[in-house]
Amino acid sequence: MTIQVDVSRRAFLRGTFSLGTALTLEFVEPALAISSCFLTPKETEGPFFPVTFPLDKDNDLTQLEGSTKNADGQMIVVRGVVQDELCRPAPGAMVEIWQACTTGRYNHPRDRNPAKVDPHFQYWGRTVANERGEYGFKTIKPGSYPVNWFWTRPPHIHFKVYSRHHHMLTTQMYFSGDPLNEKDRLLGEHPDQDQEKFIVSFAEFRGIPTGHFDLTLKTRQR
Ligand SMILES: [Fe+2]
Repeated sequence: MTIQVDVSRRAFLRGTFSLGTALTLEFVEPALAISSCFLTPKETEGPFFPVTFPLDKDNDLTQLEGSTKNADGQMIVVRGVVQDELCRPAPGAMVEIWQACTTGRYNHPRDRNPAKVDPHFQYWGRTVANERGEYGFKTIKPGSYPVNWFWTRPPHIHFKVYSRHHHMLTTQMYFSGDPLNEKDRLLGEHPDQDQEKFIVSFAEFRGIPTGHFDLTLKTRQR
């Protein structure tokens, strides 16, 4: 599976931070990471928010705790900053993601897609933003899946973000260059300038395609 590569390595931060126990990321040039502080557009939760959660609840979805086998598919890293509309970081924000595996199948009882479930994939995970608002996940690029005979959803990752002083955000992240993006009915509901905020380009970083997705939350009035 090919992920479009059109982001400069300069976009990554210098330094190291730990993302839970499973994943440590290194960066270069922190100031370039925050590209804008426009609110991240909301999207529907969709029908496949988990009804049960895996025992393994970390931010590495590519391998279940206690297993020696990796999930099938292209391993990727998604990371960014949780912040508010004034670009102030939101340390302590909880970010959770859920997604289909590489075949396009969710681990959900209402998913009628006949594609194979990957028993080695952790379909849901969560992490907490560090003191600079940074978060990250290691996962695999999800497959596309049919909604009906005329609509196939492009690869996407669902996000929910919870933060004490901000409104909860539910959204989805898409992959730049995927031809299904242009035909997607959910993505198409947003103006082009908003679509750019959650269509992410990936670049090889330490051998793993890595995408930067900032999550900008609306501050709650006190
Ligand atoms: Fe979905």
